[in-house]
Amino acid sequence: MVTETPATRPVNPRFSSGPCAKNPTFSLDKLSDAALGRSHRAPIGKEKLKAAIEETREILGVPADYKIGIVPASDTGAVEMALWSLLGARGVEMLVWESFGAGWATDVTKQLKLNAVVKTAAYGALPDLASVDFTNDVVFTWNGTTSGVRVPDGNWIPADRAGLTICDATSAAFAQDLPWDKLDVTTFSWQKVLGGEAAHGMLILSPRAVARLESYTPPWPLPKIFRMTKAGKLIEGIFTGATINTPSMLAVEDYLKALEWARSIGGLKGMMARADANAKAVFDFCDAKPWIANLAEDPATRSNTSVCLKFTDPRITDGAAFAKAVARRLDAEGVAHDIGAYRDAPAGLRIWCGGTVETSDVEALLPWLDWAFNAEIEAR
Ligand SMILES: Cc1ncc(COP(=O)(O)O)c(C=O)c1O
Repeated sequence: MVTETPATRPVNPRFSSGPCAKNPTFSLDKLSDAALGRSHRAPIGKEKLKAAIEETREILGVPADYKIGIVPASDTGAVEMALWSLLGARGVEMLVWESFGAGWATDVTKQLKLNAVVKTAAYGALPDLASVDFTNDVVFTWNGTTSGVRVPDGNWIPADRAGLTICDATSAAFAQDLPWDKLDVTTFSWQKVLGGEAAHGMLILSPRAVARLESYTPPWPLPKIFRMTKAGKLIEGIFTGATINTPSMLAVEDYLKALEWARSIGGLKGMMARADANAKAVFDFCDAKPWIANLAEDPATRSNTSVCLKFTDPRITDGAAFAKAVARRLDAEGVAHDIGAYRDAPAGLRIWCGGTVETSDVEALLPWLDWAFNAEIEAR
């Protein structure tokens, strides 16, 4: 069966899971107010950094007594800072269900050499959340970007836990509801759901996380870019815009503009609705086709940002080669860039559905999936 070439193409074929598509109103000239060539410690720079923090707080609904810092090295930097600064005070549980969570578990067990309990689930599933012991510190990823599996909510996290929860929320923040009372450390980067630039990470600390920082000194050395305390007290400046080292003021301006756009489309609610609509278009497509399925087994755990798909047609013998060929065909047609599954994940496709992507573009892409699938089946 040969499917005809679809009549329409996505206006924006950028469906990468990071860096993600810029928001639909983005243009480079909108960054002309950037505080370039000025010290980030001059009032103009500090004001912009502070605005980035406070606007993040407003849109995400972060409580007033939580600290928000702009830190080096994107989401990875924020997660590593938390792991190296906080862990070791009590037992640790690592929840792993895709490659980024696996990376954090490797760091904690092999680099920090902590005797952590590591609970692992295969791609497509979640570990048994009911079995987590919250007297330990618990490290997990809210939305597994490389498996398209997310935790459904925060109900599995007790309010009266003794340990801290450390949550990598980089592909969830601005797309999914994060229950701040259940999260002691939350991280994300600008390059994901907001379509900002990489380089800087956001580190959000609950009062309990701050109390740990001020009462516990890890036994290992901490490089300057990880240090959040001085003489046993939190360095407050980091959380008001006095960054540890020099940030890119161009990236800051881009983030401020992305926040402005997010606010203009209804803030967090608007962002979540856009991601939900995008993901639903893909889910409905998969439900209607016998040859493709969501990698996430339980519908309640399906990501609305990094939607991961697997081909299920019995005629396919080499799944990895087939999926790569489909992604290559779509890339070459200019209808979808960067939608091959992550290198460590099962063969398939990953379509970014975060709020900067237009639903009309997702809808325009779907007939092309049909087209590319049929073309590859024919070409076997
Ligand atoms: C869940 C998760 N954690 C961490 C990272 C690393 O992010 P960054 O490259 O912004 O540090 C990614 C990037 O895709 C991710 O999806």
